[in-house]
Amino acid sequence: MADKVRDSWASRLGVILAVAGSAVGLGNFLRFPVQAVQNGGGAFMIPYFVSLLLLGIPLMWVEWALGRYGGGFGHGTAPGIFHSIWNKNRFIKYFGVIGIFGPLAIFIYYTYIESWTLGFGVLGLIGKLKTAAVARESMQAFLSDYQTRLWPSYLFFLATFFANVYVISHGVSKGIERFSRWAMPTLLFMAVILMIRVLTLGAPYPEHPDWNVLNGLGYLWNPDFSALRNPKVWLAAAGQIFFTLSVGIGVILTYASYLKKTHDVVLSGLTSVSTNELIEVVIAGSIVIPAAFAFLGPTEIEGVAKSGAFNLGFVTMPMVLNRFPLSQFFTGLWFLLLFLAGVTSSVSLVQPAIAFLEDEFNISRKKAVRIFSVVSFVLMQPVIFWFSKGIVDEMDFWVGTVSLVVFALIEVVLFSWVLGMDKAWDEIHQGADLAIPRVYRFIMKYITPLFLIIILVSWLVSSRDIIFMTNVADTNKSFVLGTRLALLLSLFLLAFLVKIAWRRREKGNS
Ligand code: ALA
Repeated sequence: MADKVRDSWASRLGVILAVAGSAVGLGNFLRFPVQAVQNGGGAFMIPYFVSLLLLGIPLMWVEWALGRYGGGFGHGTAPGIFHSIWNKNRFIKYFGVIGIFGPLAIFIYYTYIESWTLGFGVLGLIGKLKTAAVARESMQAFLSDYQTRLWPSYLFFLATFFANVYVISHGVSKGIERFSRWAMPTLLFMAVILMIRVLTLGAPYPEHPDWNVLNGLGYLWNPDFSALRNPKVWLAAAGQIFFTLSVGIGVILTYASYLKKTHDVVLSGLTSVSTNELIEVVIAGSIVIPAAFAFLGPTEIEGVAKSGAFNLGFVTMPMVLNRFPLSQFFTGLWFLLLFLAGVTSSVSLVQPAIAFLEDEFNISRKKAVRIFSVVSFVLMQPVIFWFSKGIVDEMDFWVGTVSLVVFALIEVVLFSWVLGMDKAWDEIHQGADLAIPRVYRFIMKYITPLFLIIILVSWLVSSRDIIFMTNVADTNKSFVLGTRLALLLSLFLLAFLVKIAWRRREKGNS
């Protein structure tokens, strides 16, 4: 075990902002509107809120409590945290490897996409998107061109990568916490300005008076109960809850491991969920969807959302903002808002790997950051240079979707069944400022695990074409297979590191 003092959060507000920062990201502003539109707008919101109540909120509490528990034993990542819950089981620490592997793998493609937002933000501010943003085809071509050309996109990638390394190199309280304390209010302010801009757009086309912002909001908020029978909508909603709250990844566990034993987790966890939801459904939901609806109308908005995950945010938004006064300013503001939201999330994806090296190998932060930077930088290069080969989609399926559910299932079973609901309930309420409604004892023990198993099985059944690569073009098959093998290899390598760390610890103790 590390013999140095572990970092800890300097203030309660700081940790809440950092966790909310991890949650609020590209998922809120880019992924949410696309998922909502692809799944029929109002039809999406009921499964979304049910998943929030039965998966998101309980898992957030479980991760805060497990993280604080493990931190008490000097462990900031899942292998050590799981081991401290069930130390009689020799294998449980290996299941925890997912909690280091997942964030690292997500960081690798997330940060690349984050770098486009910086690029588009700067290019938007200086007016370089103006000509392209007059038509869908030209804006789409601009995006594809940006993704495939080295200049200037690689420069923005480097800037984004080093911005992340810079924040993380200052540690938890002086790096992540300080950064989140100004980044979160700033991004909230930027988002509110954009929301006001969009809500005052009215109906841009006199010939289509019903293509207006109000009907755009109705598109999202008028419930459609018939869609409740569609499993695809449920899977999408649950997936969005995981991704947006950053639960099931491993990052909240690590953040919570820097809490003091007396620090409340119930109200703090709930506050971070509420902040994320306010920004996702109220603010982000009032930007992209109403803007795209007023601009594209009810039919085309679905076509655009289905044509590509980034099209509403990267193609439609600059086109909408381009039509109105101060277009450069608003386009720049939109993308820089995404960038800031992205960085507060990506730094959280780095911390588990750093904590693992610091806690389990007793390596200094400086050295851990150096190792992480070199390894992640090298791993990012194939993602950047072979972006068009389907690598990101493959990674997003395994590490951004499936592994989140698997990991969450392990966490909730360990917490509610292995630790046991009575102990778990006491643990979660230590230092708590609020009592969790007792119905959550039942939810955490039965409903959440069952819901997770159903999601996992349905996901695997409905994703046969991804698993067997039948949806992959022949020319891309070797890249996709290579990605899969690389992911497996990394998983085994990390498991091996866990083995070494435990062997060293046992030797140290004997
Ligand atoms: N929770 C982060 C996001 O929504 C990963 O982007």
